Amino acid sequence: MSKVFVASAGLVQVGEHWSKSILDLMAEASLLAMNALPDAKPDRVIVGNMFSGVGASQEHLGALLASQLNLIGVPAYKVEAACGSGGAAVHNAFLSIKAEESDVVLVCGVEKMKDMEVGRVTAALTMADSAEYTQFPGGTFISLNALTHALYLKKYGISREEMAGFPVLGHRNAALSKHAMFKKAITAEDVLRSPLISDPIRLMDSSPVCDGAAALLLLSEKKAKELHAEAVEILASEVAANLFSVYERPDPLDYLATRTAATRALERTGLKLDQMDFMETHDAFSITAALTLESLGVCKPGKAPHDVSTGRFDLTGELPLNTFGGLKGRGHPVGATGVYQVAEAYLQLSEKAEKNQVKGAKIGLTHNMGGLDTTTFIHILRRAA
Ligand code: COA
Repeated sequence: MSKVFVASAGLVQVGEHWSKSILDLMAEASLLAMNALPDAKPDRVIVGNMFSGVGASQEHLGALLASQLNLIGVPAYKVEAACGSGGAAVHNAFLSIKAEESDVVLVCGVEKMKDMEVGRVTAALTMADSAEYTQFPGGTFISLNALTHALYLKKYGISREEMAGFPVLGHRNAALSKHAMFKKAITAEDVLRSPLISDPIRLMDSSPVCDGAAALLLLSEKKAKELHAEAVEILASEVAANLFSVYERPDPLDYLATRTAATRALERTGLKLDQMDFMETHDAFSITAALTLESLGVCKPGKAPHDVSTGRFDLTGELPLNTFGGLKGRGHPVGATGVYQVAEAYLQLSEKAEKNQVKGAKIGLTHNMGGLDTTTFIHILRRAA
């Protein structure tokens, strides 16, 4: 089996791209990645995307992108796992290189959300959950997260104020980053004063609706040696599925898919969680940031809000978290997010993170969820010695 390397990344700034089509976004990110390594011609194209059909009236994204890039005849297709679609695309590329079926894979994650009116976006996002038991009675993805947020506050006696540390951290890191959506640091007071969108979730507890695309070139060991591009290796790519809807689970505050995929990834690498120099996690809401850290075992149950308030997860802290702002600050163009995260890990490990650089970063972990921890992808990456 071949080792798998990340050789380049292309990032479109997350935001509102009214004048660009979904194809424009994919092509822009892909050309940035490909032009960084012109001698690596992709022999496979994989696109991660959640709802281009309803959002942009466009399906068939793999062939659409390959055709635009004149990559005629190569295998090209889209993969989907709700908000984990980007992670699914990287996972699929990893497997095809590992199995020695590909040498150069172009992975692109894309989503165009802003063209839709916000009610339609909410409905589209809720397609990640049950049509019969969540969508039909009027539940939304935000309201499911609000239920777990309320349960968490009650179970551990935590105040709303204490949860504000996560969005504050996200916006602070995003303000330094070129490709992030939000360029303004916020305070805990800003979070508490922002409008309630689904009690107890406030606007500032939530990731935004946005457009974006990110791309990566992944290489086999053979190709990476030929092109001297062995700087960053993907050591593990794991995925696990949970009981589909959060209300079916024995403990709605336990992210079992996160824990399972991370355990498998760590076992594969022989590494321990405390060897990670940074993490990019799926902080779509303040509550998902807290439950992810607790389910991974980074924080004790009910202690994540306290830990964030100590500076433990700052860029200069013990375990820098969401170093370019995460979903809250960089933005969450849903099907693209998992690719942004792996691209950000690549920037950290190749010392290209500029103002967001974690000094001496050698190993990092990315965590991307489809649904409410329904399908979770974990990647562990390492800088070559
Ligand atoms: N965080 C910070 N600021 C936000 C924001 C967010 N999540 N969402 C919007 N804003 C800001 C906008 O930048 C804009 O600021 P401006 O007036 O200075 O330009 C202002 O709030 C109004 O923006 P608008 O686009 O009109 O907001 P909206 O009411 O249409 O949408 C939400 C707000 C919360 C409904 C929307 O962001 C949302 O649905 N988020 C959740 C997305 C989601 O569930 N993703 C999947 C999770 S897995």
